[in-house]
Amino acid sequence: MRHCIERKRDGHALSATDWDGIIDGFMEGRIDEAQTAALFMACVWRGMTFEEAHALTDAMVRSGETVTFDRSKGIIVDKHSSGGVADIVSLVAVPLAAACGARVAKLSGRALGHTGGTIDKLEAVPGFNAALSLDTFLRQVESIGCAIAAQTQALVPADKRIYNLRDRTGTVPAMGLIAASIVSKKIACGAHAIVYDVKTGPASFTPAPDQARELARWLVEISKGFGRKAIAFVSDMHQPLGRTVGTGIEMVEARDILRSRQGAEPERSRGVQLILKIVAALLDASEIADGEERAAQALADGTGYAKLVEMVEAQGASRGALEGMELDDKPLTVKASHAGYVHSIDVVHLGNVGRRLSQHDKLGGLFVNAQIGDFVEAGQPLARVYGRDKEHVRNLEASFKIGADPVEPPPLIYDVVN
Ligand code: URA
Repeated sequence: MRHCIERKRDGHALSATDWDGIIDGFMEGRIDEAQTAALFMACVWRGMTFEEAHALTDAMVRSGETVTFDRSKGIIVDKHSSGGVADIVSLVAVPLAAACGARVAKLSGRALGHTGGTIDKLEAVPGFNAALSLDTFLRQVESIGCAIAAQTQALVPADKRIYNLRDRTGTVPAMGLIAASIVSKKIACGAHAIVYDVKTGPASFTPAPDQARELARWLVEISKGFGRKAIAFVSDMHQPLGRTVGTGIEMVEARDILRSRQGAEPERSRGVQLILKIVAALLDASEIADGEERAAQALADGTGYAKLVEMVEAQGASRGALEGMELDDKPLTVKASHAGYVHSIDVVHLGNVGRRLSQHDKLGGLFVNAQIGDFVEAGQPLARVYGRDKEHVRNLEASFKIGADPVEPPPLIYDVVN
């Protein structure tokens, strides 16, 4: 191991055999955390080649169980977000794509940092069971076309231990390490095609658009190296994507997007616009044509919502439980102190506040009324605060910078890499 650390420190690439030995040795306790962290720090400074990231991904996949879908029975697709605030895409896109004929198998992680996890949001539906055995997961995808379940400990156990070590040693931000961490979990989940959504902005792992483009390229290249179809969107995270920030409250928003047929409105929210693009990519990967039109139709005619209900029921919750999720009817309103254009939003702060509110209250969180570029009058609501803790967040107005000059909102999609 010492030799590998020194070679990496001096800027050389390690071989696939080296990476295999490192992961095996780390998992079996023959290589200690100090050495592994030193190697990762060298990766942060010296970078990694695609070949190294591929080899590391492969070694990580082989640290645990893998899922296999029979390709002759049809294409299985998966969707992954690199994580952001108010990211409701999976909650809506998975049932919507399944309603359009795709078969979507999503094993998901829990929250990381200020970004919420899809599983935590789904578990806010009383009775929802995310802890499916791999067998039940496979059967559900076969029978109703979609399932979202929590990653089991058996899947890429190396990632959990390695991520924990990286988090403690300042070695998260290395492109090859991030890509190997993300792709290993996707490869182990067995889908034939993967749609990535790489976020860029302050509330993401890749704040600069060029960093996000680079990560998108790594994810696509490494996935293709495993024989998977892959496409990556680079999308905006300078402001919350959806309207709500929290955990259960985001599930309520996702339900309402599917239920209240917002897709039929001519003015689609940014969240809905991105969802339609991602569903179209999932359908395209499934060899289903006219994806965006089909997705908009399934949103408008209620079949997307029917599929969400079917998925929730298949996983132990009832339609009544989903529809009974109601927000507190006395939210605190955060108002603009003066008129002007919203220049920026402190999305990280909103993410942290939303999570804190939802820790104390299942449906606690924020509803964000204003977006970057909007004109607001003095006294107009910027956000509504839900949950028991709301008195602690009166200073939220400072998260919205309001100026006299008009500003353009940031693009929703910066790039598509395939
Ligand atoms: N998400 C992951 O799963 N792993 C990383 O390293 C970064 C983001």
